[in-house]
Amino acid sequence: MSIQNRKADHIRLTVDNQSAYTFNAGFERYRFRHNALPELNLSDISTEAKLLGTTFSMPLFISSMTGGFAGASQVNEIIASVCESQNIPFGVGSQRAILEKPETIESFSIVRKKAPNAFIAGNIGGAQLAGNLPVESINILIDSIRADAIIVHLNPLQELMQPEGDRNFKGILDGIANLASCTQVPVIVKETGAGISAKVALLLLQAGAKVIDIAGSGGTSWAKVENLRTDEKYLRVFNDWGITTVDCLTDLRNAGINHENIIASGGIRSAHDVIKSICLGAGFAATAQPVIQAVMHGGSNALTELVEQWRTIMRYTLLLTGCSDIKDLNEEILYK
Ligand SMILES: Cc1cc2nc3c(=O)[nH]c(=O)nc-3n(C[C@H](O)[C@H](O)[C@H](O)COP(=O)(O)O)c2cc1C
Repeated sequence: MSIQNRKADHIRLTVDNQSAYTFNAGFERYRFRHNALPELNLSDISTEAKLLGTTFSMPLFISSMTGGFAGASQVNEIIASVCESQNIPFGVGSQRAILEKPETIESFSIVRKKAPNAFIAGNIGGAQLAGNLPVESINILIDSIRADAIIVHLNPLQELMQPEGDRNFKGILDGIANLASCTQVPVIVKETGAGISAKVALLLLQAGAKVIDIAGSGGTSWAKVENLRTDEKYLRVFNDWGITTVDCLTDLRNAGINHENIIASGGIRSAHDVIKSICLGAGFAATAQPVIQAVMHGGSNALTELVEQWRTIMRYTLLLTGCSDIKDLNEEILYK
């Protein structure tokens, strides 16, 4: 199966949430501690947050999703223009397609045309780096979108579920260290929904990654997506595989990893999940499935509405917990 068909399948199988885990990411374990006397005006509340030294309108990153096939340009165009106007960062989907079919470059480079000032991250698989992808190839990916960061996705679970997927995962850490030492832009390493433990996060940070996007379980199950694409039933035992996002966050915080180095993602389904992530030790949160759903069903207007509604909910939540900005958030605001 070609990368193009696979990427089209991925949107088809995630847009209506049919590939969700049977459990949530864990945020429902916590409630907000209401502050009946916040002593703040709504106009005092700021949702601004920093990632990699840049200030954004809120701590929300649109996770890496697509590129590389005919329908992808339109999706990327919409995401790019909304992120440009809302001042939030985003990532394109895996750019491996550019290396295999250079003519697909336009489905990625469109984002820079639509978002000349936005923070945009490129994307490549860890498995591609294992063979030490030449620096010239990496530069092609970065230059195609004038990337502000490059995201490396780790997805051994997803690859194993794909009949055509990678089977070799040795050498990825060295590949990431090599990438970090030869690129000008910061390296972010993410999972795709099975989570990153503290042990793995520490290795990645030592190798030169600047930010770890935990992409834990409880949202989109990439084992389920791939198992829906094949007739193979026995592998469905992996559909619920992975460390939940909240368990990853707890693990990374207990290991002393700084919030500035952590993006919480995987099953972020509301503005409340974003705020709870920050309280639990992340510096930023990211979401994928709600975005693709909004884009595919309602285009740019629906995505704008989603982002603006989440920002309003974040502002009200900050006020109702007695916080004037994102920096005031901490675990005491939550209770079980
Ligand atoms: C349609 C779609 C395509 C995706 N493609 C990529 C990709 O190319 N590279 C990547 O790193 N992650 C990819 N992901 C994974 C997301 O970035 C994210 O890590 C994962 O879906 C978990 O987040 P969620 O629960 O909010 O969906 C994709 C997700 C979706 C929904």
